[in-house]
Amino acid sequence: MTGARRRPLVSGNWKMHHDHLAAIRTMADLGLRLDAEDAARVDVSVHPPFTDLRSAQTVMEDRSVPVFLGAQHCHHRDEGAFTGEIAPPMLARLGVSYVIVGHSERRQHFGQSDEDVARTLRAVQRHGMTPIICVGETGEEREQGATEERLTAQVTASLGSAGGLTASAIVVAYEPIWAIGTGKTATAADAQQACAHIRAVAAGCIGQEAADQMRVQYGGSVKPESTSELLACPDVDGVLVGGASLDAASFADIVHAAASGAPRR
Ligand code: 13P
Repeated sequence: MTGARRRPLVSGNWKMHHDHLAAIRTMADLGLRLDAEDAARVDVSVHPPFTDLRSAQTVMEDRSVPVFLGAQHCHHRDEGAFTGEIAPPMLARLGVSYVIVGHSERRQHFGQSDEDVARTLRAVQRHGMTPIICVGETGEEREQGATEERLTAQVTASLGSAGGLTASAIVVAYEPIWAIGTGKTATAADAQQACAHIRAVAAGCIGQEAADQMRVQYGGSVKPESTSELLACPDVDGVLVGGASLDAASFADIVHAAASGAPRR
């Protein structure tokens, strides 16, 4: 199956930026810039901090902004004595559709393990949301030629450890750590090679048919100018955008670039 047959997913990860007032402004601005034509061609998700979710959701609904609400992380339990954590059903109740799981910043700074990623993505699916599972190598691993080995280990640990997965509702984001927030985007050829490898490893875990349906995003210093080339790669089905998603104009430009290369449906 070629990339053109999978509907692109453009996701904006705001990380720890924008309070709820900035979120209201940004979402309203996005609503003025995105239109039905975009929605006919690509899926768009916006992932604000937890404290913004309710405000963002209200603006989205009031103004029919054609985006899905997303979250950046959650715990794998439904409730309990876990101070400071957010449970999957809390997100589902707010209308969240996509949850980023295992972002490299959670793995690096908060010690999130592969086991926790595997548990959390299943918890997200149990509550009817789609996990965006992040994988990617460090600069050092890349220099050592260990990129594919790292990706194999992360994808296998996430998808292959146990059952309980709805294979069709999985997104994987290839985010090389050396490209995040550095201004260094992977070349389209590198992104294609890594995303194709992720799909091949996923096929061994969830079956070829499900892996063919699975969307694989690229993330790491994506800009409006680099979007079309990345999305032209057969195995790159979308982008996960950090810095360039904070500004509605640049994020909308990324969505437009993605939409211009995608069929209407
Ligand atoms: P940047 O686009 O700022 O490099 O961030 C990428 C990222 O980590 C998205 O999750």
